[in-house]
Amino acid sequence: MGTRRIMKMGSKSLCQPSEWVDQAELAEVGSIVLELRETMLAEKGVGIAAPQIGYNKRIMIFGFEHSERYPNQAPVPYTVLINPILSVISEEWEEGWEGCLSVPGLRGLVPRYKTIAYRGLDLQGNLVSGVAEGFHARMIQHENDHLEGILFPQRIRDLRFFGFEDTLYVEQGGWL
Ligand code: NI
Repeated sequence: MGTRRIMKMGSKSLCQPSEWVDQAELAEVGSIVLELRETMLAEKGVGIAAPQIGYNKRIMIFGFEHSERYPNQAPVPYTVLINPILSVISEEWEEGWEGCLSVPGLRGLVPRYKTIAYRGLDLQGNLVSGVAEGFHARMIQHENDHLEGILFPQRIRDLRFFGFEDTLYVEQGGWL
């Protein structure tokens, strides 16, 4: 298996909607998920979507116990979501700092819905569903954007709040 190279902003494959995974493809998706997981762990990410390793299918994984990149966030259980569908539970939204393995070294303040419901399939084809709040909900919305060909800088409302991690970290006195 091993890790895969992460596509960076500028790559066309990050700007196009991904295809749905059909039932017959589920068996081969297992190896993609293993590669996603190893790549995410090697890069210390908290989530990753298949288009980020050049595979334009609707697959995301996320979850962490403790993250160096987001040290103040509560753990999120490791989850594989294939063909995810998100729905908004309330119109309430909040801004939060976000980064992306495909946009290395940069972060931006991105508005996201506070609470969402999600459903999708696991590797066995079972239905996975749940409700997520706060950073957990943010991660799922971020990864789902990858499946639509959207990167977080496109969501930033005020580009004054888009910058280099090291500078932001110092000026804010650590990650919020
Ligand atoms: Ni990302």
